[in-house]
Amino acid sequence: MSDDYLKAAVEIAREAGEILREEFDRPPQISYKGDVDLVTQADKRSEAAIVKRLTQYFPEHAIAAEEGTGHESASDSEFRWHIDPLDGTTNFAHGYPCFCVSIGLAQRDTVIAGVVFNPFYNELFAAARGEGATLNGKEIRVSTVATLSTSLLCTGFPVHKRLANPNIHYYWDFTLRSHGVRRDGSAALDLACVAAGRFDGFWEFGLQKWDTAAGVLLVEEAGGKVSDFSGQPYRLGGPTILATNETIHEEMRKVALDISQRDPASPLRR
Ligand code: IPD
Ligand code: CA
Ligand code: CA
Repeated sequence: MSDDYLKAAVEIAREAGEILREEFDRPPQISYKGDVDLVTQADKRSEAAIVKRLTQYFPEHAIAAEEGTGHESASDSEFRWHIDPLDGTTNFAHGYPCFCVSIGLAQRDTVIAGVVFNPFYNELFAAARGEGATLNGKEIRVSTVATLSTSLLCTGFPVHKRLANPNIHYYWDFTLRSHGVRRDGSAALDLACVAAGRFDGFWEFGLQKWDTAAGVLLVEEAGGKVSDFSGQPYRLGGPTILATNETIHEEMRKVALDISQRDPASPLRR
């Protein structure tokens, strides 16, 4: 059954990706959702295409989509699609080709299918629960890197309320303890890269369900581990996320705990 959902999600992600690709070649049409929170014509067109197609295929399912055009509460279905029509909007608006479409399907609280598609590099990451994860049809696995000191990590910062976000402390500390920390601006692609073994660990604060639904399944199906900072299973939309190749999970978690004890702004202390 998840296979059928995955097939649909792949088809829809490719269709939305084509829209993003087309819009990327045009001068960006930007508006603002807040002080610095961008939204482009591409976010809106991509979401419209995804919502239309999902509604056509699965009229009884709920759809939670970032730009608000889904029908989240209109349904009491146990199935809910979490859609980020363009993850990496700031990159997109600046012409930096690191962005994707992210489509995840949850059955009650469990994500059962997920697709992350980067149309610029034509990289399509896909996973169905219990069936592994793939990149352009080839199986992917998390890395075998064994220690934090030899790892390549990534993280992200929210576009708004940056001052209230504690991540700069973590960024600084993890940078000194690893081969480096990348900040690529697309949480869904960050997670996909952990699944593909390109990054060994990823953490962030305050991500939304549509940012992580597909990516979390990719990491788990590629043999990695996802939790919150206290080691509890990650809940979609939870305040912290730690996704790793599993081997360095506890080491990263201990460091995060240590940093939180020094940083009064950390959510772990609230
Ligand atoms: C953002 C990206 C970014 C993350 C932000 C998200 P958007 O999503 O995933 O990497 O650090 O917290 O809001 O706004 O480009 O869809
Ligand atoms: Ca996003
Ligand atoms: Ca988005």
